[in-house]
Amino acid sequence: MNRPMTYQTERRAVGRSTTHIAFACAASLAAILAFGHSEARAQAPATPAAGQQVALVTGSTSGLGREVALRLAAGGAHVIVHGRSAERGMEVVAEIGRAGGSARFYQADFASFADTRAFGEAILRDYERLDILVNNAGFGSAPNERLVSEDGHEFRFQVNYLSHFMLTRMLMPRVLNSAPSRIVNVSSLAQTPIDFDDVMIQQDFSGGRAYAQSKLAQVMHSIDLAEELAGTGVVVSSLHPATYMPTGMVRRAGVEPRSTIDEGANAVMQLILSDAFDSGAFFRGMEEGRANAQAYDAAARARLKALSEELTGIR
Ligand SMILES: NC(=O)c1ccc[n+]([C@@H]2O[C@H](COP(=O)([O-])OP(=O)(O)OC[C@H]3O[C@@H](n4cnc5c(N)ncnc54)[C@H](OP(=O)(O)O)[C@@H]3O)[C@@H](O)[C@H]2O)c1
Repeated sequence: MNRPMTYQTERRAVGRSTTHIAFACAASLAAILAFGHSEARAQAPATPAAGQQVALVTGSTSGLGREVALRLAAGGAHVIVHGRSAERGMEVVAEIGRAGGSARFYQADFASFADTRAFGEAILRDYERLDILVNNAGFGSAPNERLVSEDGHEFRFQVNYLSHFMLTRMLMPRVLNSAPSRIVNVSSLAQTPIDFDDVMIQQDFSGGRAYAQSKLAQVMHSIDLAEELAGTGVVVSSLHPATYMPTGMVRRAGVEPRSTIDEGANAVMQLILSDAFDSGAFFRGMEEGRANAQAYDAAARARLKALSEELTGIR
């Protein structure tokens, strides 16, 4: 595939913030040098200022992720914008730049492990810190057909869960290096237990089941990460942001919106900013809640982790 962004090769020296998620510095200006055909697209490498916090929001070219990216940039963080659409991604970067903030777009298709791995490697190369990782990119329940990823896996399981598993594990050295830091996994109340005899849902497929399985897998990963990272200063959480926000996936499902993107973004921002919950927590909007029972089954989580390591090749 064409990779429109030229990932920059130089390393940047950035300072280490001691202020907990208090966006430290005035933001630097993001500038776009050129934007044309995909091969010709390039952007000035907006770099974090010394001490400036760095946030990555996957799936920030639209919907909830876009709003969270704008808010993080307005709070003073340098924001890594991600998605498949370079056009929408560059628009988000430009909007952040017009407001005086700092951002940079990276394109990666999470239906491809090669793409996801290249993205992770580019971030490791280009950034020395990662204070906030919001795993938000997602593909919804519509269309109700069994799609397959580039790697041959059930599509939602790879896009929504496995690729975030891979990316999070790859970026862990930067997240640890930036502690106190945060990982927020944007899940859903739609949660279906994983059938370990048919994880790729060859039988009884529905888009809703595939979506809900991937969303529960994200919660299970959050709980595992919280246990693994206890005592490191990295706080992990997952949430259902809000019910039927007016976003792309809800429009594609033909569902009438019931809440606003602002409500969902408030819930995500709370998990980035608040100290009033324990690592591993699952939130329903602004309130702490319980996920599907399988999330609290340590044996099921161990099985999922082993499978995820095998499928992604990441340990
Ligand atoms: N909307 C709701 O009511 C609701 C409720 C509960 C949970 N959520 C969760 O909220 C998160 C954000 O969703 P949204 O509602 O804001 O939907 P959205 O507007 O459709 O946004 C989805 C984002 O994910 C990215 N994405 C989709 N497929 C991708 C792929 N293969 N590779 C890389 N990026 C991909 C999209 O970027 P490109 O288009 O540029 O690829 C886009 O930025 C999702 O995790 C969703 O499950 C939403």
